[in-house]
Amino acid sequence: MIAGIGTDIVEVERFKDKPELWSRFMSKREQDYINRFRFKEEHIAGFWAAKEALVKALNKRDFNFSCVTVAHDKNGKPFFEFDGLGIEGKIHLSISHERKFASAFVVWEI
Ligand SMILES: CC(C)(COP(=O)(O)OP(=O)(O)OC[C@H]1O[C@@H](n2cnc3c(N)ncnc32)[C@H](O)[C@@H]1OP(=O)(O)O)[C@@H](O)C(=O)NCCC(=O)NCCS
Repeated sequence: MIAGIGTDIVEVERFKDKPELWSRFMSKREQDYINRFRFKEEHIAGFWAAKEALVKALNKRDFNFSCVTVAHDKNGKPFFEFDGLGIEGKIHLSISHERKFASAFVVWEI
């Protein structure tokens, strides 16, 4: 059963050259991931959109973004990892980004 859906779109420019902002909401693993890319802000914006979409899907605001990691499988498909957060069921995540905008879509299935 689908228990919730969430989507978010963000402007990539908001995340350009803002290391203090990045470290506030990204885990070490995410920061290692984005360091591989030239246009880091696109990927960072995608992670932010993913976490905002998650909040909407779960309808839950009482968690810290740095406790949620966007990880990737061997094909590059993203998924969430939760540090110390018990989430019932399964969460599906899709991210997309271009130079100006990043978006994400989350489905919460129980
Ligand atoms: C995986 C693929 C669909 C990504 O499409 P894209 O337009 O380059 O990428 P987008 O900007 O929309 O999205 C990028 C995000 O897609 C996600 N993604 C990457 N690989 C993925 C996969 N295998 N499955 C699901 N999502 C994936 C990631 O979250 C990525 O962002 P991140 O690395 O910052 O987390 C694409 O690279 C691909 O493999 N297409 C296959 C078809 C193809 O090769 N067509 C060309 C024929 S000529």
